[in-house]
Amino acid sequence: MSNVTDSMLEKRTLKGDFGAEVAGVDLTKSFGADTQKAIRDLWIKRGVLLFRGGDAGDDAQMRLSEIFGELEPSATADLNDPDNRFMMTLAYDPQDKNPKFAQHYNVGGVDRAGWLGWHWDQAFMPTIVRGATLRMVKPAQEMGETGFIDAIEAYDRLSAEMKARIDDLEVVYEFNPDFTSGQFGFPKDIRALPREKKSSAHSYDFPPVIHPLVITQKESGRKILKLSPMHARYILGMHRTESNALLSELADHLVDPQFAYFHDWQANDILVWDNWRVIHSANGVPLDCSRYARRTTIMGDYGHGRYLDASLNRDRQIRRIVD
Ligand SMILES: [Fe+2]
Repeated sequence: MSNVTDSMLEKRTLKGDFGAEVAGVDLTKSFGADTQKAIRDLWIKRGVLLFRGGDAGDDAQMRLSEIFGELEPSATADLNDPDNRFMMTLAYDPQDKNPKFAQHYNVGGVDRAGWLGWHWDQAFMPTIVRGATLRMVKPAQEMGETGFIDAIEAYDRLSAEMKARIDDLEVVYEFNPDFTSGQFGFPKDIRALPREKKSSAHSYDFPPVIHPLVITQKESGRKILKLSPMHARYILGMHRTESNALLSELADHLVDPQFAYFHDWQANDILVWDNWRVIHSANGVPLDCSRYARRTTIMGDYGHGRYLDASLNRDRQIRRIVD
């Protein structure tokens, strides 16, 4: 019996010490407990894993996902595969007459579908899902990159004074469906395009939630700048002017593009990200390009979130959309 270790599986890092391309694992076959542990260990060490060069289908993606935890069906039924509620389709097709998310934006002078600002998934919920896998079945002909930033690295490069100032702060988040109203870490030039098609997306009930600004990765003791700029509103208990200035400074520090890894997708690539550690963004695609991806969500609760309204049970059932 061979003893596979995480370093044996690492072909290269994606940016500096962050992210890793995994080699030597055939996702179409079952693999042993030592390989599963090595994959988990590498994921904790690097934050994002890339599996490239295979032709994995839904079954292989599901099997890979289950290494990291129990899977969670999307609560948005119309995104779920009718035959497999743990598998979601994230797609854009300019010919689609009934798109799920029809709001398009102009960013940097380019009209885009599927653009998303920097965020961790479920920032507007008291629980935070453990992670996700995304498999690119059909990459966009242009753009379509997914960005990742390591919030451990971002914490490390804060000044000692800033670390001391923010270590015990908490941030209030609220679901933000209009990206042009985002206050922190958004491109200054973003504007919404007029809607040409009616969206079939629904709106949901998301009461404000509170998350700590700094958490610790329990496996390593490393601190994480746990800020999700897309839905951040204010720092709990701080005067709004001071809060806005501090969140702007931290968000600009966090989303500095020179520290980001932008993944240029090839067909069949699978990325797995640690949602308790990294933030991600979607560059979007030109409106005449199509794209087709499959996603799974790994269930989790990091244990530090709560509702702003203390009378609400953090386990209350709520329908959420995929962000
Ligand atoms: Fe996301």
